[in-house]
Amino acid sequence: MRRYHVTTFGCQMNDHDSERIRGLLESSGLGEASSPADADVIVFNTCTIREKADGRFLQHLMHARALKQRDPSKRIVVGGCWSESMKDTLFEEHPFVDFAFGPGSISRLGDYLQAGGTLPEGHFSTFDEFAGDLPANRERPHQGWLQISQGCNSVCSYCIVPSVRGREQSRPWQVLIDEAERLVADGVCELTLLGQNVNSYGRDLPVSDRRSFAELITRLDAIERLARVRYTSPHPKDMRGDVIEALAASRTACAHMHLPLQSGSSTVLKRMRRTYDAARYLALVERIRAAMPRIALTTDIIVGFPGETDADFADTLAVYEAVGYDHAFTFIYSPRRGTEAATMAEQVPDDVKHARLEALVAVVQRHARERNAALVGSHQQVLVEGPSRTDPSTARGRSDGNKTVIFSPPRPAGSLVDVVIESATSQTLRGTVAATILA
Ligand code: 5AD
Ligand code: SF4
Repeated sequence: MRRYHVTTFGCQMNDHDSERIRGLLESSGLGEASSPADADVIVFNTCTIREKADGRFLQHLMHARALKQRDPSKRIVVGGCWSESMKDTLFEEHPFVDFAFGPGSISRLGDYLQAGGTLPEGHFSTFDEFAGDLPANRERPHQGWLQISQGCNSVCSYCIVPSVRGREQSRPWQVLIDEAERLVADGVCELTLLGQNVNSYGRDLPVSDRRSFAELITRLDAIERLARVRYTSPHPKDMRGDVIEALAASRTACAHMHLPLQSGSSTVLKRMRRTYDAARYLALVERIRAAMPRIALTTDIIVGFPGETDADFADTLAVYEAVGYDHAFTFIYSPRRGTEAATMAEQVPDDVKHARLEALVAVVQRHARERNAALVGSHQQVLVEGPSRTDPSTARGRSDGNKTVIFSPPRPAGSLVDVVIESATSQTLRGTVAATILA
């Protein structure tokens, strides 16, 4: 049997796409290999969000080239966002690549395999279909992804995603409901809604079929055996009253929201084209917390955006302190080809960027420690993911607020348990099972 190996880079959308890529490969009769060296078809699902992502992938690609030099029958396939962003020069620069496609053209890989790997060379990059409509090979039986939209209509000046994933397109309402019900019937109890901008869902649908993100959150509650709904990522500009109300009233929506801030400086936010300023963001957080007092908030922050001054960076730290996030992903600004910010004057020197990142990470860690410490003594609802990697007398899971919880006695993956938290670090909570909610 011919065998494949898929390496995935980037975000949860790519993890989801890779499940579909595996599904396609398997329906073409290939079996999974444990490493690229053992595979006949070596697939990469790439990311290009920052320069680092490109660099990491290129190392893997060079390794694959060496494997192919030793065994020329191997095929190298490159999909995803880097592939899309490089479509004009990919085959010229990397002639050993056999087939390439963008994130909206995954099914072309199926055509390529059906044709026995003999399709004419070329890059496939039109938007053909939602990956969610393709067969899946799911990795985690209890956790499922539901792709609700594709692409992004925002014009954030630093971001390459709109140019590689295209305009926003929502999947039809009934398709989503049917898929959610199918996943739950198949054993999924935690569903993660995926989109580049989840809370603008539905605005592009024909009027007769137009439903909103708020309506979707409400509707999912009616699926009886569905225990939890997560969503990533919402945009602050679309976090309107109806969405907050729906989330607050929902039985299934988790008490966690990832709400990208990007910068706490209103002048930087303006140049980023985020369409909100610091005061509006803080007012939004207040509304969210008023409706959902227990909610865990996490965020994304970029330091060193062009023209960011010490005072701008101080504003970011001030917003961080004011919100008191549970956690944050912190990034050094990375100029991306074709984006508006890449050509802005006043790029910030590397040493300044690194110093700011370090200062921000210290604040992030302190808040994470404090927010977690405040949970000692509380009860957390935990979805069990499996045995702990280091200590078999304990198991690992995630709380409603998306924190890793290590607890004893161990319970099988997929159960939902109530855990009393006994200790905490900035990374994890530890505790003891008090009750089983769902076996
Ligand atoms: N440089 C650094 N970080 C970026 N992000 C997006 N584009 C860039 C860039 N050019 C970050 C944003 C986004 C997250 C997924 O990646 O914070 O929310
Ligand atoms: Fe995901 Fe963006 Fe990376 Fe594409 S470029 S894989 S959308 S993070």
